[in-house]
Amino acid sequence: MSQLKTVSHIDDIPSTPGKFKSDKSSYIHRLRIYSTLSKLTLWSSFFLIFVLFFVFLSRTTSPAAAPNRRALGDSWGGSDWEKRVSKSARRSTASGFTVLVTGAAGFVGTHVSLALKRRGDGVLGLDNFNRYYDPNLKRARQKLLDRAGVFIVEGDINDSVLLHKLFDVVMFTHVMHLAAQAGVRYAMQNPNSYVHSNIAGFVNLLEVCKSANPQPAIVWASSSSVYGLNSKVPFSEKDRTDQPASLYAATKKAGEEIAHTYNHIYGLSITGLRFFTVYGPWGRPDMAYFFFTKDILKGKQITIFEAPGHGTVARDFTYIDDIVKGCLGALDTAKKSTGSGGKKKGAAQFRIFNLGNTSPVPVSELVRILEKLLKVKAKKKLLPMPRNGDVKFTHANISLAHSELGYRPTTNLETGLRKFVQWYLEYSSGSKKKSSW
Ligand SMILES: NC(=O)c1ccc[n+]([C@@H]2O[C@H](COP(=O)([O-])OP(=O)(O)OC[C@H]3O[C@@H](n4cnc5c(N)ncnc54)[C@H](O)[C@@H]3O)[C@@H](O)[C@H]2O)c1
Repeated sequence: MSQLKTVSHIDDIPSTPGKFKSDKSSYIHRLRIYSTLSKLTLWSSFFLIFVLFFVFLSRTTSPAAAPNRRALGDSWGGSDWEKRVSKSARRSTASGFTVLVTGAAGFVGTHVSLALKRRGDGVLGLDNFNRYYDPNLKRARQKLLDRAGVFIVEGDINDSVLLHKLFDVVMFTHVMHLAAQAGVRYAMQNPNSYVHSNIAGFVNLLEVCKSANPQPAIVWASSSSVYGLNSKVPFSEKDRTDQPASLYAATKKAGEEIAHTYNHIYGLSITGLRFFTVYGPWGRPDMAYFFFTKDILKGKQITIFEAPGHGTVARDFTYIDDIVKGCLGALDTAKKSTGSGGKKKGAAQFRIFNLGNTSPVPVSELVRILEKLLKVKAKKKLLPMPRNGDVKFTHANISLAHSELGYRPTTNLETGLRKFVQWYLEYSSGSKKKSSW
């Protein structure tokens, strides 16, 4: 025992109880320790399960993937809601389309919805208002659309009950599918949000479209990023797209293959549009032209990436109005789907087009134009481009879109940026109090 007293009480506990003899008091003492330890283990297990449960919850509901439950289920339904849906989708000309625009609170979705409504088509928006970037901007776009008579249903493209309901209420002739998890770099932070929206969500939407009767024709946004490491310029639709440089690009490429499958099996008419770096008023705060503007005005340093060996990084910047014309051209030339109620009745149209500007501009030139328009000298830092998904340059060959859609971009970068800066200054002065501008 004296030997035992010299060691700590933890060491008192035998690894195999009962192997040595002890007196009664030390037996009771050990019993107490056992009981305390088992209580401790029990409570630690509860605590661990509790923590694991919350980690699991936060992973499956990542911010960009799922905004909040209320937005996905409880905010729709009822006769008033159905009336709003029908009214928004009602066309004002006899030859007009009835279009479901997914991602309508997004940058491109807002502009496309406004353009369709303006020319007499019926438009219903759908968006989950996720928090990938400032949701106040999405709400401001929503107000703009509301004033134009376009209602945005708040929901997720993964919600098949909601989608079926929308197709029950409205007979859509077309779906303009723009909802997606955009952005190349964010994929390293939240890869699941790309799978959720760009793959699972797209499949869900196609499932609903395929079983609709009549099936709508679908036009959707792919991306120039599918060209990945392709170095043959300008990028043509026939070039290889099997070397994506980011998960975003990989999900867009997967989308193109998935679209082909639904076209082949179910007779859905599908047109994919590969957008090249779209910019303009109401644009996306995660894009360089946008955050450069913000940082230059704040006097903050901006980082300009260089390709290896001090090479130039260039983008085929395409102004939003040109992209909108391309989207409308694709909708106007889309043929009807051939299936109905999930059954194919004949071959259906399947197309892919580049929508770019055909003139890549170095990022340093973008900054020079912004400095001129903002009348502020930028504090620049040059850094080698990190390997996080960006590619060195993009350059579109648009001859196919020109011949088949009548697509002809007309806005050069300086003109387009002037319009963006004008909007930015107005918008940021109006919303300074409301958010973090
Ligand atoms: N802007 C560009 O330069 C560019 C370039 C290439 C491709 N694209 C593609 O064009 C489309 C539109 O891009 P954008 O710049 O307008 O992006 P955006 O992020 O502004 O718009 C996308 C909208 O979709 C919504 N959304 C995302 N996941 C959703 C989901 N699961 N359910 C419902 N809504 C969801 C978002 O809330 C957002 O409002 C996207 O498919 C994008 O990948 C854009």
